[in-house]
Amino acid sequence: MAAVRLDKVRKVYPNGHVALKEASFEIADGELLVLVGPSGCGKTTLLRMIAGLESISGGTMTIGDRVVNDVAPKDRDIAMVFQNYALYPHMTVRENLGFGLRLRGVAKEEIDRRVDGASGMLGLDERLDHRPAALSGGQRQRVALGRALVRDPAVFLLDEPLSNLDAKLRLSTRVEIARIHRRLGATMVYVTHDQIEAMTLGQRIVVLNGGVIQQLDTPMNLYNKPANLFVAGFLGSPAMNLFHGTLRRADGLVLETRDGAIALGSDVAALAAYVDKPVIVGIRPEDLLTVGDHEGVAERLRAHVEVVEPVGNEVFLNMRQGDDELVARVPPHSTVQPGTDVALGFLPERLHFFDPETTARIG
Ligand SMILES: Nc1ncnc2c1ncn2[C@@H]1O[C@H](COP(=O)(O)OP(=O)(O)O)[C@@H](O)[C@H]1O
Ligand SMILES: [Mg+2]
Repeated sequence: MAAVRLDKVRKVYPNGHVALKEASFEIADGELLVLVGPSGCGKTTLLRMIAGLESISGGTMTIGDRVVNDVAPKDRDIAMVFQNYALYPHMTVRENLGFGLRLRGVAKEEIDRRVDGASGMLGLDERLDHRPAALSGGQRQRVALGRALVRDPAVFLLDEPLSNLDAKLRLSTRVEIARIHRRLGATMVYVTHDQIEAMTLGQRIVVLNGGVIQQLDTPMNLYNKPANLFVAGFLGSPAMNLFHGTLRRADGLVLETRDGAIALGSDVAALAAYVDKPVIVGIRPEDLLTVGDHEGVAERLRAHVEVVEPVGNEVFLNMRQGDDELVARVPPHSTVQPGTDVALGFLPERLHFFDPETTARIG
């Protein structure tokens, strides 16, 4: 296994498109790092650059203690699982798993040993003599994973490997990948556009947007302290509620919005510089509390309930306050009715503040 280091790595495609602007970070030896961001943000480009399938326009890429900028893919000791994997239809599962090793001239006994190991790990033992056509989608996906496993590479690269599976299979295969990672202690870079996949799988997560790294942190830190509005909005479903207004100092800090004023109750030191200036205040749906259901939570705003969505273990209240839409996530026994007004409060320490101009987190 090996660490991977990117130092000011850049990618400009021949047509002039800048797909990656100066990415600098390190993937530790044995770490599972997730790369997440919307479609087109540069995830596949970055992964293909680590693999050597895409040239590096600037900066330095290191795997282990070797600079690999000019090292051919086959000499980088990496294995990649692609989004659109293709199995050889005329080969059995066993042959599909061993094919890459055979091409490399690995001895037959060694191939058998590694194929049996991967097959056991992925629960494919019963299927080794079947052709891909006889497998379910989930089993085919596991064969694709198995082809990477048998290689026993220094680094695994996975590009949205679960996107072709249905929701239930995605979940179970995700757990399987986490288990394999723990068992092998392998260095893995996992690409996804799915924030749930990213949050559950990553030890650390890189959030990418428009070829620019927005934040690199643990899942909980990303969620609790998003570095900017993009990260705040991208992670979390339903998304964080945002209030636009001007910060005023009365008794305490107050957000003056078009529809009134919200007493914020908090006095983060860094906010002093924003008094009488525009700010954006964020609060997650689970932190927007219905007054009366929580002891000691005072009313800070009122909203009109438009749609109530029970999802079993919780209820989403879709509300409107003036021009703004709000969502609260409340316990399943909530009796709030659509068409009524509700009083809402929050704990001041659960608020997030952002600079509307730079979009960066304040404090
Ligand atoms: N060969 C190429 N030439 C020019 N632009 C490309 C090429 N490949 C990808 N791009 C562009 O680079 C950006 C990043 O693409 P990609 O890395 O595939 O994004 P993601 O995997 O995050 O969806 C996109 O805007 C895409 O259109
Ligand atoms: Mg992609």
